[in-house]
Amino acid sequence: MAIIISGKELSLQKKEQMKALVATFLAKYGRLPKLSVILVGNNPASVSYVTGKGKSCVEIGMINETIRLDENITQDELLKKIDELNKDDSVDGILVQLPLPKHIDSNCVINAIVPEKDVDGFHPQNVASLYLKQKGTLPCTPKGIIQVLDSKNITIEGKRAVVVGRSNIVGLPVAKLLLDRNATVTVAHSKTSNLTEVCKEADILIAAVGKARFITADMVKDGAVVIDVGVNRDENTGKLCGDVDFDNVKEKASYITKVPGGIGPMTISCLMENTIECFLAHVGGNK
Ligand code: GUN
Repeated sequence: MAIIISGKELSLQKKEQMKALVATFLAKYGRLPKLSVILVGNNPASVSYVTGKGKSCVEIGMINETIRLDENITQDELLKKIDELNKDDSVDGILVQLPLPKHIDSNCVINAIVPEKDVDGFHPQNVASLYLKQKGTLPCTPKGIIQVLDSKNITIEGKRAVVVGRSNIVGLPVAKLLLDRNATVTVAHSKTSNLTEVCKEADILIAAVGKARFITADMVKDGAVVIDVGVNRDENTGKLCGDVDFDNVKEKASYITKVPGGIGPMTISCLMENTIECFLAHVGGNK
């Protein structure tokens, strides 16, 4: 039976530390960090994510501004709003919640945010920094996954890591971070042959496919560390569930994260951390 790693608990600890740090900023720098979040439309999941991000900001003493824009806003209007925030000296971080409506080109929007305020780490300059091991903003979910592993002193170096999923937001960047920590990394995806055999090689298995309970116990090696990044709705119960068949996989794994309460809260605490880092770079301070 695996040890369940609570991302929720770890993120609460991290938020307490950040709250104490942010409390020193007004005296030191004359202002507080400000995160501007743009939400286009009313996608219920996005509304919920954006609400969570705003709440966390306030909890740790930072300023949050959530800008709600109509579903039918034009791309030019959205880009104009981003340009305003880029130029606004009181704003340290800008996040545009994805996905965007189909008539808007997400890449164009991501590229429009100045890299210094790109708290998501999605801008091509920040992506390049990750790949070249240069200073930049790391994407929140991959950063949170590494923090979860480190919180339990799980050895990454020399281990076989399998990442299932190759998205720009999670799969690809977490593979790079694991490689930087000297894991031997395989990125598997929907066209991988013998996926079960590939997954079974993993000492560390990262599930980021977006399919409910896709990773079953027969795909997991005894004693593997299993990190579940999925956020899916169970078709029958309507409840949140991960990409991992938790009830069965927990019997084989050594460590496992849950959904909810696993990687999700870590994504938010890393977003807070990135906002603080962007603020400090902006005001010329250090942590
Ligand atoms: N939609 C799902 N995950 C994310 C994220 O990490 N950042 C943004 N901006 N949108 C998302």
